[in-house]
Amino acid sequence: MAAYTSQDLFQLEAEEIFRKEWICVGRDEQVREIGDWFTTEIAGEPIVITRDEDNEVRALSSICRHRYMSIANGAGNSRRLTCPYHRWSYSLDGSLRGAPLMDEPVNSDGGSCKLPSFALESWLGFIFVNLAEDPAPLAPKLEGAEATLAPYGIKDWRILISFDEVWAGNWKLALETALEGYHLDGLHAGEIAEMLPSKGAKFIEATKQWSCFRLDVNFESAFGEPAKPFAKAMGGTDATSSPTVSIHPHVNISCTPASSTWLTFMPLEPGRTRVQGAYLVPAAEYERIHQAEGELEMTQQVLAQLNREDSSAMVDLQRNAGSRFAEPGLLNEREEALVHFYRYLADRLISVEGPAQ
Ligand code: FES
Ligand SMILES: [Fe+2]
Repeated sequence: MAAYTSQDLFQLEAEEIFRKEWICVGRDEQVREIGDWFTTEIAGEPIVITRDEDNEVRALSSICRHRYMSIANGAGNSRRLTCPYHRWSYSLDGSLRGAPLMDEPVNSDGGSCKLPSFALESWLGFIFVNLAEDPAPLAPKLEGAEATLAPYGIKDWRILISFDEVWAGNWKLALETALEGYHLDGLHAGEIAEMLPSKGAKFIEATKQWSCFRLDVNFESAFGEPAKPFAKAMGGTDATSSPTVSIHPHVNISCTPASSTWLTFMPLEPGRTRVQGAYLVPAAEYERIHQAEGELEMTQQVLAQLNREDSSAMVDLQRNAGSRFAEPGLLNEREEALVHFYRYLADRLISVEGPAQ
C-alpha cells in the first residue's frame, strides 16, 4: 500500500500538513525559567524553543544566519545561544548579539539579521508551533477537546517520564495504533488489557481537527488500583472511563484521573517515525512517586513495555504494507477515529494533487 511507503506522498505530507499545521513540540514545563531552551525538528526544520528575557516563550529557527550551522542542540539554560562554527551569538528572542572579528557591522541596516520566528500557542500546558505565516489560531478549533481534558487539571501536571524513540514504520501506522482501543486485548494482552480491556473501548466524537474515544477502566486491576481514589473524586464518566483525544495531525493525549500519556508522531522517512511524548502526573503525585520505593521504576517498565509492544508491531505492519496482497479489511466500530483521521488527510492532500477542475 503506497500510502505507507511512497516517497512522493511523504514529501506531500511534509509540505501540506507538517509545514502548515499546528505541531505539538513539548510542554511549557520544559521552558519554565527565563533562559530555558530546547531544540526539536518539524518536518526536517530545526527549531529551538526558548523562554526569553521578557518571559516570552518563542519558537525560532535554530539555523545560524552566517553559514547555516545549528546554533543549539539538546536543552539548556543560558542568556545567549552561540553558534559553535564561528561563534556568532543570539539572544533568546532571536536577535543577533555578536559576530566576532567581522570588519563590517552585520546589522548595519538596523537589526534585520535575526533568527526567523514562528507562531506558537500554549494549550493545556502543551506547546504548539506552526511554520506557516500568520496561521489561524489553534485554541478555538479545540474547544470540545479542551472541555474533555481540562477538568483533569493537566495544564499544571508534571513530566514524570519522557519518551523519545524512533519506530520503524510509517507515521500513519504508528498513529493508527494510538487512535483506537480495539487492539488492547491483542498487542497489550496481560496486565494492561486487564486494566483497559478492548471490550470497553468506545468511539465518542470527532470534529475536523480532533477526535475522541474512551476506554472503560478496571480500577480493581493491578495497574488500575492506584488511580481509584482519584477517579472517585472526579465522578461522572471520568470516574469509570478514560478519554483519549487525538489532535490532527499527530498528537494523542490520554487521561486518567491520576496520569496522562501523550505521544506525538513525526515522520522522518516513509518507513521511520520519531515518537516523542511523556507521562504526566499531578504535582503531588510527582513528589509521592519519587519518594515511594520502586514505583517510578515500575511505571517506567510498564510504559516501556507498552511502547515496545506498539513499536514492534510497526516493524511487521511496515513490511507487510509493501506486499501486493495487503488490503484493508472491515473496521470495528471501536476504530471509527481512523475514518475521521483519513478524512482529515484527504481534506489536506487530495485537492493539492491535481490541477483545479
Ligand atoms: S555558521 Fe554560525 S557563526 Fe558561522
Ligand atoms: Fe497500543
